[in-house]
Amino acid sequence: MTAEGDAALSIEGLYKVFGDDGAGLQLAIDGHSKDEIQEQTGAVVGLRDINIRIARGELFVVMGLSGCGKSTLVRCVNRLIEPSVGQVWLNGREITAMSDDELRDARRNNLAMVFQHFGLMPHRNVLDNVAMPLEVAGVTKPERRERASSALDLVGLGDWGGSMPSQLSGGMKQRVGLARGLAMDTPVLLMDEPFSALDPVIRRDLQDELLDLQRSVQKTIVFITHDLNEAVRVGDRIAIMRDGEIVQVGSPNEVVLNPADSFVREFTQDVRLHGMVTAASIMDTSFVSVAGSTPVSELLARIEQENLSVICCVDDDGKYLGTADPAIALRARAGGAERTEDAPLYVGDTVWLDTVLDDLVPAGLRAQHPLAVLDASGVLVGVIPLERLARAMVSDEAAVAATEESETSG
Ligand SMILES: Nc1ncnc2c1ncn2[C@@H]1O[C@H](COP(=O)(O)OP(=O)(O)O)[C@@H](O)[C@H]1O
Ligand SMILES: [Mg+2]
Repeated sequence: MTAEGDAALSIEGLYKVFGDDGAGLQLAIDGHSKDEIQEQTGAVVGLRDINIRIARGELFVVMGLSGCGKSTLVRCVNRLIEPSVGQVWLNGREITAMSDDELRDARRNNLAMVFQHFGLMPHRNVLDNVAMPLEVAGVTKPERRERASSALDLVGLGDWGGSMPSQLSGGMKQRVGLARGLAMDTPVLLMDEPFSALDPVIRRDLQDELLDLQRSVQKTIVFITHDLNEAVRVGDRIAIMRDGEIVQVGSPNEVVLNPADSFVREFTQDVRLHGMVTAASIMDTSFVSVAGSTPVSELLARIEQENLSVICCVDDDGKYLGTADPAIALRARAGGAERTEDAPLYVGDTVWLDTVLDDLVPAGLRAQHPLAVLDASGVLVGVIPLERLARAMVSDEAAVAATEESETSG
């Protein structure tokens, strides 16, 4: 098998069965359940038939409940845990076939890892703590100081290199952990619940910072979390795991709006949809439109025959000109307008495909007719009827209320 294309990391047919003498793996391959296998053989299925391709520069999130196999997966990637069967490819090289020396080299140069719980050495200053893995990797002192210091700059702790860990807050310590991973300057970064121990506000800051970093340094990141809000915020794509299996892979939008099964749906019910619902995800693409050159008499006839409450008007290139309703069409005829484009068309706020719900709502509140959704070149691609917007708002409000409730109740 080969790892084709532009994947930075690809995983093929990966299984991990703990405490196995061979029988457990065979049962897992044959599709027996995790409980069944544990009962029969005592072996624990950690991963089952994982297949993932992660593109260069992608921030790929793996999420699922505690015990579903997230850490096992990420540790199989750098072989801190040996997979039972299957392959992992890194930039076209098979990690699972590497000798110990090659593996050490790959971890040093290609595949750094940031853990949730990592110890800072209390008697070393922040800079030396960041530089520690480089020291272990045999990098010279001047070089590791330079790399550690630019990594600290990246995470906003440029002035803290000389400080001792005890002088830092929890969030700052976690940034040091992130800097440690970045100082390795590997193209791929594995992050196992790096922010899970932090309080929500600091966590959001670090998520933003991670996104900024991701944009500026273009690393491929595998990011583990048990929190769907976090997954949705940071992920380009999200893989949802249950009992060692991946049950869905998709963009945050796909996962939240089109959950693959009831398990994923349950997860996604509570997610804050605010940044997620876009015009594209709720628009109606089966709107009625006419060309601007259409005679007003024809426009009126159409409105009457098809009993339309609104009709969109576009130019020869499909660009949006405005919206007509029966009153507008009648006024146009009374005023002697010949063509639809000469009618006093209604033009409210127009929105783009990627306009998010937070920005759709104010536009909707001002609107008298469906919102027109335009693509980047101004072509009308859909409309959002105001009832539809209202529904999206209501389900969003409900979701937000539910999340806040569950947060305050612990
Ligand atoms: N060394 C091990 N020996 C036996 N079972 C293990 C071992 N490590 C993990 N497991 C089991 O594998 C499953 C997945 O664990 P883990 O990958 O740590 O989950 P997560 O990181 O999603 O919380 C769990 O059922 C866990 O008990
Ligand atoms: Mg874990």
